[in-house]
Amino acid sequence: MADMADVHRPPESFRLRLRRYDPESGDAPYWDEHTIELEPHRSVLEGILQARDRNDGSIGIRCSCRQAICGSCGIRINGEPALACHTHLDAAREAAGADGTIEIEPMGNMPVIKDLIVDMDAVHWKKVRRVTPWLLPSEPAPEREYIVSKESMVDVTQTMACIQCGACVSDCLAMEVDPGFVGPAALAKAYRFVGDPRDEQQRERLLDLAQDPHGLYDCTHCFKCVEACPKDVNPMGQIMRLRRIAGSDQHIVDRNNGERHEAALTTLVRDYGLLHEAELVPRSYGGNSWFGKFHPAAGKELLGLLPTAVSAVFKGKVSVKQALLGHKLAKRDLEAVKGIYEKVESRPERYELNLYVSGVDEEPEPEPRAVASGAASSEEVAS
Ligand code: FES
Repeated sequence: MADMADVHRPPESFRLRLRRYDPESGDAPYWDEHTIELEPHRSVLEGILQARDRNDGSIGIRCSCRQAICGSCGIRINGEPALACHTHLDAAREAAGADGTIEIEPMGNMPVIKDLIVDMDAVHWKKVRRVTPWLLPSEPAPEREYIVSKESMVDVTQTMACIQCGACVSDCLAMEVDPGFVGPAALAKAYRFVGDPRDEQQRERLLDLAQDPHGLYDCTHCFKCVEACPKDVNPMGQIMRLRRIAGSDQHIVDRNNGERHEAALTTLVRDYGLLHEAELVPRSYGGNSWFGKFHPAAGKELLGLLPTAVSAVFKGKVSVKQALLGHKLAKRDLEAVKGIYEKVESRPERYELNLYVSGVDEEPEPEPRAVASGAASSEEVAS
């Protein structure tokens, strides 16, 4: 929030470079520059609207609340996904390139309808609908509201903070490679119902998303969605929660080998202290056993990965010895890694603290009031 000193700063000039595109025109996308005059604490959205009002009424931008609530003004500012109404012009200029021009583009991973407006329906909303985004209780709906304890809802509070702006979808690297991926926003929404004590189809939901080749195990842990989210929903964290419940609680072993791959990764780090790439595929297919190394499916997969391995060796990313035998960790360090595993695995049950605390208290502390001689103190007045 801008303080009073910011509010009284005089207007300044800002240069905006807008990515323009109208698919119906048949013309290629192009950059369009505008200079606007606004106080530095005003938002990038206000800057775009001024350019539209004063310079070019055909600039396409979607917005509604202007208060970071409705999620409709998602764009890319200087290459990063953001809410236009929640980004100050001075901050955007500071993050811009050397000439200070603020670069504004539509969100990624979604088709452009016009300029900064993307087709949320074609990607984002379609994927949200995919996860059955409503409660599936076993009992008929009560006459009035469902009553649940506050404590039981704490776990899903974080996903409920999502405003469906699509910033995480815009930056999802897995979706760039596989447009069919259910994606961070929809999977975070799925956790909102999987974690809800009133929902009776937790297992069915998880089974469905685990078996989908574009589902739970398609996320590559790149953290881009975590950084992109303006509401700290941590979509990747919600996906990991879905996986933990699917694998550890519901014991779902999916046909995509996702659960086994994850187990292979953790057991390899436990056994070697670091990831041993050469064993990852065999262990993902055949488990920890000797037979696993010769599992037919593992052989096929290994052959497919051979070009990548050869390229990694030639580029010096890994040596042949290291690729085949794994990393050698000092005995003391390996013991330390094993110690962490023992500590975590000896717990009687999984310990997960999923508390969502966001924002800061911006209200200034009230000044202590002087109590006039003979007058009642504030406590006395209150009582
Ligand atoms: Fe509603 Fe920006 S206009 S979030």
